[in-house]
Amino acid sequence: MYREKYRPQFHFSARQNWLNDPNGLVYYNGTYHLFFQHNPSGLQWGNMTWGHATSRDLIRWRQGEHVLLPDRLGTMFSGSAVVDWENTGGFQTGPEKPIVLIYTAAGGTSPESEGQPFTQCLAFSVDGGETWQKYAENPVLGCIRPGNRDPKVIWHAPTRRWIMTLYLDGNEFAFFSSPDLKTWTHLHDLTAPESIECPDFFELPVEDEPGARKWVWVASNARYYVGEFDGTRFTPEQELLTGDWGRNIYACQTYSDIPRLDGRRIQLTWMNGGEYPGMPFNQQMSFPCELRLVRTPQGLRLARRPIREIENLYAREHLWEDLALSPGELELQGPRGGLYDIQAQFEAGSARSVGIIACGEPITYDAQAHTLTCLGCTAPLEASNGQVNLRILVDRTSLEVYANGGLVSMTSCFLPQEGADQISAFAAGGEATLKTLRIFDLLSAWAGA
Ligand code: FRU
Repeated sequence: MYREKYRPQFHFSARQNWLNDPNGLVYYNGTYHLFFQHNPSGLQWGNMTWGHATSRDLIRWRQGEHVLLPDRLGTMFSGSAVVDWENTGGFQTGPEKPIVLIYTAAGGTSPESEGQPFTQCLAFSVDGGETWQKYAENPVLGCIRPGNRDPKVIWHAPTRRWIMTLYLDGNEFAFFSSPDLKTWTHLHDLTAPESIECPDFFELPVEDEPGARKWVWVASNARYYVGEFDGTRFTPEQELLTGDWGRNIYACQTYSDIPRLDGRRIQLTWMNGGEYPGMPFNQQMSFPCELRLVRTPQGLRLARRPIREIENLYAREHLWEDLALSPGELELQGPRGGLYDIQAQFEAGSARSVGIIACGEPITYDAQAHTLTCLGCTAPLEASNGQVNLRILVDRTSLEVYANGGLVSMTSCFLPQEGADQISAFAAGGEATLKTLRIFDLLSAWAGA
């Protein structure tokens, strides 16, 4: 177990069976909780249940008991989690602050819930996340539109109340507020073209602009708005933007309650659509990323970068400097094992294109078209000061590419060819230079699982 051929070695996958959206991402007292949409009894989607895993570094996970099982209100669809520091919901019984899950009961998706609508419900832990129970007076928010789902709840300190963003139907979402997580008031609706399901909502500082902050609203497909939120209304100030160009990013969610001293906004997503032939599990999560809000000439943009805890898995380091690339491929001697953190800085020079081939898959910067291509997806990418930076995380079945500090990212799955664990650099149509190339062989996060 955890050593299977196509088992991701530093990405979360369920011990067995189907997984989709990350749910209830919350940090409490040294532990990151990861709940996930799970079919406990099959390799395909169904019987939606909240699986549960915990970690101290977001890398090494321990899967525990399933936490939310289907009931007469429905199967357990996606949702979020918060620590109720001020015990606004009144669930606290001892010294631990209540951790509250806000989820969708998908009525009518099981024989037991026939005839029930989709509603929003609560569950909580009063022992720091060891055990969980559903709120006896569920649901807390009735059905507004038939498929409404995926509540994301945050604490809004200035107005001292909870804010929920919820998927309604079509491309429509809504905002609600609550003093206690139990009673909800509709605030307003929001449309996000071509986007459905699993909204996220949070505030971020604008990098390098002391005191400047903006609100970010993200849809399941990673598209996002940046704007203002006055406690009642979210007003986008830019068009809806693409948050990731890869082929397997979905149901993006960020952690709640990461301590202020740390201050990071950490995002995890389902890598929707990966293939795992013959495996006892199906689907995986993305590698956790830190989100930053960066001012660019085009406006404010989200940048994604892998969390620094990946260093916990660094084994051997390989370094090249000022490596001249003539047209063709150059296989790099040293890196072994097929699990890598690759950090490359190119100067395209006279080359038409340059890039890296990782485990048989090219990641190509086209210096004429100003694009980055990997696994059939293409993103616009400009060199900055004549240079292109690529960071590539390679796991058994995934390639995550972050270019120019994460302003362009691609989250994609692949099925490796037998034995293809080499890394090459290449140039085409002219000469290029690899200013620096640093590759870390990575350890498996499951060692000792
Ligand atoms: C997104 C989604 C959610 C829903 C869940 C069901 O992938 O369809 O909208 O809550 O998955 O598993």
